[in-house]
Amino acid sequence: MDLVQKSIQILKDGQTLDGSFIACANFANYRYSWFRDGSYIALALLEYGCTREAVNFIEWGAMVVNRYQEKMEACIRAFQRGEEIAEEDFFHTRFTHDGYEVPGHWGFSQFDGLGTWLWFSCKLFMENPQITPSPDIISALEKTAEYISVIWPAGCSDCWEENEGGQHTYTLASIAAGLRAYGNWSLSHKYNEHMDAVLVFLRKNCLTSSGYIKGVGLNAADANLIGLCEPYRLATWEDPDFQKTLLRIERDLMTPGLHRFLADTYYGGGEWVLLTAWIGWLYAKHGRIGDAKKLRTWIESQASPEGFLAEQVPFHLFAPDRYSSWVKDAGEIASPLLWSHAMYLLLVKELDTRK
Ligand code: BGC
Repeated sequence: MDLVQKSIQILKDGQTLDGSFIACANFANYRYSWFRDGSYIALALLEYGCTREAVNFIEWGAMVVNRYQEKMEACIRAFQRGEEIAEEDFFHTRFTHDGYEVPGHWGFSQFDGLGTWLWFSCKLFMENPQITPSPDIISALEKTAEYISVIWPAGCSDCWEENEGGQHTYTLASIAAGLRAYGNWSLSHKYNEHMDAVLVFLRKNCLTSSGYIKGVGLNAADANLIGLCEPYRLATWEDPDFQKTLLRIERDLMTPGLHRFLADTYYGGGEWVLLTAWIGWLYAKHGRIGDAKKLRTWIESQASPEGFLAEQVPFHLFAPDRYSSWVKDAGEIASPLLWSHAMYLLLVKELDTRK
């Protein structure tokens, strides 16, 4: 089976007429759309020439931001007045296909998705000047930049929807990357200044002698720290602090698939396909081609007979006693997870360009 073609098909089939991507239609909790997953999915499709699909996703995101802009404005005002804001009063993270908040408790507030969406949208418009963003998109990007530039110190759940109210390195990096991209695209320099403030905070609070850590007060590796270098380019590949971070990720989390973090118990804390592809993508971009190819082969060997890539595979579990209770309560591991297919596509594309 050609897993590349299959993956492109899965991503396209997973896009609704509204432009959203359903994270995993086979898994009840994931029958929704996230700004985080969607931005990486759209990035992968863009790399394979599916520009229309990528722009449709940006339009969907703009529709959601514009729909909830009063909520964002209320948060900005409340934060500026120093008031407490309840988690559900922030802009949410999980939406229905047509862009409404999903009822029921969830880690509602997660700023990284908005940062990644802003970063991706500005990148697409900068690299494709023939595409003119609609007025709705322009105002949604501005609103998003304003929102994240003000409320980032408030804290939120991390990109794994855990550690509510904390300050997380990957989240802060997504915000900084989004603000930098928006500042460059809109030529509005105040956003570059906001970005600098986030970066100063990040270096002061999330960097130790063993590299970047998971978050403020959380001295542990997290595979999402790869994002500091790729795709956000806030740290260069050569940066010794990034290399230390990478070494710790490899030492603590690779078995050879990549886990999220050592204390992970979700489905027993298995090897995440999307993270394994992500680190392979990083290696491929920076010349570790042999390592990247090995990971590509590993990922392909994890595909189901129908060509599905799951969120994670239950091997080398960090918390084996937690696996069966998750299966019992929430069903089998999500598969196909669109984000896994997207990261696989990014890895393969990068390897192809290096041939
Ligand atoms: C992950 C999130 C992801 C969501 C949908 C969650 O389990 O932790 O990062 O956005 O699934 O794929």
